[in-house]
Amino acid sequence: CGIVGYVGSKQAEPFLIDGLTKLEYRGYDSAGIAVIDNDKIDLEKCVGRLDALKAKIKGHEPKGVIGIGHTRWATHGGPSDVNAHPHLDCKGDFAVVHNGIIENYMQLKEKLIEKGHKFLSETDTEVVAHLLEELYDGDFETAVREVLKRIEGSYSLLFMSRRDPDKLICTKKDNPLIIGLGDGENFIASDIPAIIGYTRRNYIINDGEIAVVKKDSIWITNQDGLPVTKKVFEVNWNAEAAEKGGYEHFMLKEIHEQPKAVRDTVMPRIAKDNLSVILNELKWNKEYLDSFHKIFIVACGTAYHAGLVGKYYIEKLARIPVEVDIASEFRYRSPIIDEHTLVIVISQSGETIDTLAALKETKRLGAKTLAITNVVGSSIARDADEVIYTWAGPEIAVASTKAYTTQLVTVFLLAMYMAGIKKCISPERTKQLLTQLRKLPDQIDRTLEDPEPIKTFAKKYGFNEDVFFIGRSLDYDVALEGALKLKEISYIHAEAYAAGELKHGTLALIIEGVPVIALATQKSVYEKTISNIKEIKARDAIVIGITSESNDTLVKCVDHVIKVPNTDELLIPLLTVVPLQLLAYYAAITRGCDVDKPRNLAKSVTVE
Ligand code: G6P
Repeated sequence: CGIVGYVGSKQAEPFLIDGLTKLEYRGYDSAGIAVIDNDKIDLEKCVGRLDALKAKIKGHEPKGVIGIGHTRWATHGGPSDVNAHPHLDCKGDFAVVHNGIIENYMQLKEKLIEKGHKFLSETDTEVVAHLLEELYDGDFETAVREVLKRIEGSYSLLFMSRRDPDKLICTKKDNPLIIGLGDGENFIASDIPAIIGYTRRNYIINDGEIAVVKKDSIWITNQDGLPVTKKVFEVNWNAEAAEKGGYEHFMLKEIHEQPKAVRDTVMPRIAKDNLSVILNELKWNKEYLDSFHKIFIVACGTAYHAGLVGKYYIEKLARIPVEVDIASEFRYRSPIIDEHTLVIVISQSGETIDTLAALKETKRLGAKTLAITNVVGSSIARDADEVIYTWAGPEIAVASTKAYTTQLVTVFLLAMYMAGIKKCISPERTKQLLTQLRKLPDQIDRTLEDPEPIKTFAKKYGFNEDVFFIGRSLDYDVALEGALKLKEISYIHAEAYAAGELKHGTLALIIEGVPVIALATQKSVYEKTISNIKEIKARDAIVIGITSESNDTLVKCVDHVIKVPNTDELLIPLLTVVPLQLLAYYAAITRGCDVDKPRNLAKSVTVE
């Protein structure tokens, strides 16, 4: 999750450790450094905090003027000493650190094993080191280029070779990477905080660019080997702002990380022809699926809201009955569970005690369990029979955003996987849905492009004490999440109602000037939602409608409309939630709230 590199005339190790310390806020579970010491790569790495690494090397710190370092947030392979980066090839000629995911690492690994390569770790990254060794033919840079031709996925990569001990080579795709310009020394990092104490002058590397970095020169070329002229980017943020990548808060940064988080979670799991979902982590067949009479989804908070969408997906696509439960309620209501039950728990942190306790209880009762979590090696990941990871990266803000959207796409993938096994979805429909799914990251990006209208609403209505959210079907599930976001960080009393349920009580609270956010994206219930909006308008409330780009009727019956790109209505929650996250964020700003650390709340709740 954090990358650093140094080449200069000073000792590399103090910078590497200091740079990694500055990236600690990003979350990590292991750390390591490699330095070229007398033509040999001296590698030190271990699981745990940086303090553990410092203690390990104390008194025999690696010596040398060129080195690389990494803090790892586990993805492929749990947190352990061997899985920590840097990774070396068999001969110890090359060292590599990597952020991101190499999607085709299994295929590459199998081929390399056939050729006699011995792997020490379970990571996707180690494959890159061995591939580099395999393709090396006397020229370091050429070999790196050959590696890049063969790997697929997202990455920032930093390479070091003891055969070329005066240079580091780095490149990136969909992950950040910068080069800090020093005087007789240069720095490489995944993020500005690592180097802000050393230089404020940087090159920001773009996707596909390859930089050869020596102590007194930097040579940057594009994919075709043509030189690229870079502008120096002067950082004028302070260190704290730098941690947030220039965003004012982690929450806003994480909202903007959603395109990447969704891309990382989805892309490795869609077949190239868009005709099937690949969940290598599950080995299910029809017989196994048919053995379940029922599925429970159990979770807390935002993850529970993802579960509600999951129920819709699984029932609609795979036709298996699903019940969704709040974890703290589930255990105490004697649910009917046996070996014919599948229990899916969803948890960003993988540590929420209510969810963990529910998981343990269902296992005891004989159910099969599957966890959807963001933290590799977490308690829930370890306890469940099977795990599907969301690849959102560390989420720091208490209010969950990118974890939610990656949970939604994960339950969608799971439902499609089940439907595929049960053959209850046609190839045409599969292709249609997976084609739309591929477009989602870019569409989320577009949804984020112009926050101005939302800022204006937040300023206008941010001081109201009550806000209502309504919707039907999937829109209702998203409304619940929108209301939770607003409550959590702006402390506005926000309630979400199934639009049709308003008239059974809550309509009494709808009076002149009360803001109501109405989601209207689902065709089968669209007209009914419009009727509910009219009931609200008749009470002089303010209605902000949320719908898709192609809808030109909603505007006629609401005060304002926010539109999101067109997609299949099953996938539209991934888009409609984005303006709701932004609305909560800007309302909290309007009210001067502490966005990232709301009062009374914690990121990971380990008490019942
Ligand atoms: C806490 C957080 C919420 C989160 C919930 C479940 O209450 O503040 O944002 O949704 O826990 O967390 P989990 O890590 O299990 O998804």
